[in-house]
Amino acid sequence: MLFKDIIIAKRDGKTLSPKEISVFVDGLANGDLPAEQIASLAMAILLRGMSADETGLLTRAMAASGTMIDWAGVNLSGPTVDKHSTGGVGDKVSFILAPVLAACGAFVPMISGRGLGHTGGTLDKASAIPGYDPFPGLDVFKRVVRETGAAIIGQTSDLAPADRRLYAIRDVTGTVESIPLITASILSKKIAAGNQGLVMDVKVGSGAFMAGLADAKALALSIIGAAQAAGLPVTALVTDMNEVLGETAGNALEIAESVDYLRGDRREPRLHEVNLALAAEMLVISGLAASATEGREKAERALSSGAAAECFGRMVAALGGPGDFLERSQDYLPGAPVRVPVPARESGFVTAMNGRAIGGAIIGLKGGRAALDDVLDLSTGFSGIRPIGSAVEAGAPLAFVHAADDSAASRAIAEYQAAVTIGGEASAPGPTAPNPPAPNPVVHPRLDRTDFASQ
Ligand code: URA
Repeated sequence: MLFKDIIIAKRDGKTLSPKEISVFVDGLANGDLPAEQIASLAMAILLRGMSADETGLLTRAMAASGTMIDWAGVNLSGPTVDKHSTGGVGDKVSFILAPVLAACGAFVPMISGRGLGHTGGTLDKASAIPGYDPFPGLDVFKRVVRETGAAIIGQTSDLAPADRRLYAIRDVTGTVESIPLITASILSKKIAAGNQGLVMDVKVGSGAFMAGLADAKALALSIIGAAQAAGLPVTALVTDMNEVLGETAGNALEIAESVDYLRGDRREPRLHEVNLALAAEMLVISGLAASATEGREKAERALSSGAAAECFGRMVAALGGPGDFLERSQDYLPGAPVRVPVPARESGFVTAMNGRAIGGAIIGLKGGRAALDDVLDLSTGFSGIRPIGSAVEAGAPLAFVHAADDSAASRAIAEYQAAVTIGGEASAPGPTAPNPPAPNPVVHPRLDRTDFASQ
């Protein structure tokens, strides 16, 4: 079978056979397929789509393309559970949720990815912690999960290697925003990691891959369907990504905000709401809470008692980071030489934010990749981000840019200003509105397999 014929079949809108899907996945995993053919098929899938059966087959084949972790012999005293975000800007939730769940008795073996398109990657953020080894090998990964309750690592070459190759190529070929490809990418890693439950955080809005609620819901249902076919219990929340989540966007800056959050120094309300909602779902799906209300209470206790912060500190140290990272993160994280305000061009209220453009500005600062092998500057990005609904005076800071030099800072300022809309009136408050109010609910209703079945 010529691989070109598989590309042509999908280009012409045909359904790929199990054999064709397995040829694709084998070629991805063993490196035989050249990047141009992979990119062509990815583009054909993006344009033509895949049926639920094709997506399920692709997912399972990608999961089985490498090692499938079995936790049975590791003697964990609780369930394994994970959450995964479909990607956003300023989304540092993993660094908070994993230790919260660990503090509540779950085990979180989290395989994360690097930045994709305009979105930031958990793996890149973790790399900002000096000494932290995001590729520790399977034995160390298992030991750290057992001893500290959580380990956030990167996708090693033996875990879902087919996704690893496809992910990197999609990132630079405009083929990210495909529901079947996102579904297979996310779930293959989660299935290979041996999770017993998964909660999906499906982002919707200007900073997400799915800009509209209908597409986000379709993605959530695609993931639920494919997970169900693979026997992985899953629920999904659709959460707002019409603005940066939290006060920072950029690798080291987001780690600093996560540490502050865990220590209780600052908890941006939208970030807090998303965290608690996801933590509650994870505790329910793993059987550690009888209801979302009980799950929320447990998560809040894990935060207020300091137990979650302690778990984070132990995880960082166990993966090679500083033993006192929690206490002295600012001494360890890389700082950018230039830090200047982004002045508002006029007075009024922040009424909208183009998350994708802000993600693009971070790529311009070298905080994200424009090409496959780009080396990141982990110190760059934005802090002090004023949320939608904020009243601003002309010339007052909308945010602060962290850049390598003055010219990069000037470009980022212009891009940030263009990405933010200032209007005469504040938007209407939403149900989970922080003060000042956000225009949209942060968390939409949850979706589970009954929603999938009713489609
Ligand atoms: N996260 C992933 O792991 N894969 C995608 O395709 C998108 C988000």
